Amino acid sequence: MSASIHTSVLPAEVMSYLAIEPGMTVVDGTLGGGGHTRLLVEAVGPTGRVIALDRDPAAIERGARELAGKPIRFAQANFCDLPEVLDAVGLERVDRVLLDIGLSSDQLADHERGFSFDSDGPLDLRFDPTEGEPAWRMINRLRPETLADIIYEFGEERFSRRIARRIADARGQTPIRSSRDLARIVMSAVPRQRPPARIHPATRTFQALRIAVNEELKSLRIALERIPTRLAPGGRLAVISFHSLEDRLVKEAFRNRQVWENLTKSPIEAGDDETLRNPRSRSAKLRAAQVLLAPPTPAG
Ligand SMILES: C[S@@+](CC[C@H](N)C(=O)[O-])C[C@H]1O[C@@H](n2cnc3c(N)ncnc32)[C@H](O)[C@@H]1O
Repeated sequence: MSASIHTSVLPAEVMSYLAIEPGMTVVDGTLGGGGHTRLLVEAVGPTGRVIALDRDPAAIERGARELAGKPIRFAQANFCDLPEVLDAVGLERVDRVLLDIGLSSDQLADHERGFSFDSDGPLDLRFDPTEGEPAWRMINRLRPETLADIIYEFGEERFSRRIARRIADARGQTPIRSSRDLARIVMSAVPRQRPPARIHPATRTFQALRIAVNEELKSLRIALERIPTRLAPGGRLAVISFHSLEDRLVKEAFRNRQVWENLTKSPIEAGDDETLRNPRSRSAKLRAAQVLLAPPTPAG
């Protein structure tokens, strides 16, 4: 497996809002390429520790190799299961948690996973390829109306109905298997844009299916409820999201004044320098909050 090609977004801003002190215990709920994890491990120093989670076994395997010898515990897990992960290592509470949600450039580049439009591999789109239903099965199974709803809601795609109808026509002839198959179907369904759009015409459809097969909003909703029960008094959570529905969930959770003191009135976004260097950062939104000094009791 090759080295990570992922560039972490908003690194300075994340570190500023997390305000980590030496000796702290910090969770990186989305290890990905390990860029943020490296910063976290440096900040906690030799007396602190980092627990790094990812749903993707490949990210965990790469991280464990590239970050060997550092005080990091790796766990292949969904960040909504953080309480169970902490129980397994005998930890009641932690000081900081970071979630940088979505897809990494390593996953995008891996043609076996189906995240890129020109991939001839199976249209899988799962973060954890051992859990749940691959996207190719989902799009060959669902009713066109349900598919259209998914593409509209999670992809914010205005041509969702046309795309779903075209998928239904295509699969009636031969089952859809690869990402390339789906990208071609989407391109044939949407009108050609002039001037050409900044993003590939299939971007929104792929994003929608990825969010659906991984039940990404459900994981985030559960995590936002459970994480504060395992943060130490005054502990902080920072979340980077790339989708308006995710950002809305974070914003609403941080409004709960019985749990959180919100540290970001509006979301922090990447500056021009960063968006030039790393186009992925264009849609990133960072929010951070601190649990109150008298936190809720652990609910598990
Ligand atoms: C944007 S990348 C993280 C990049 C990382 N912060 C870095 O600096 O390299 C997102 C990662 O989160 C993982 N992921 C997405 N949803 C998850 C979840 N619910 N639980 C755990 N990991 C998740 C993905 O598998 C992916 O590796």
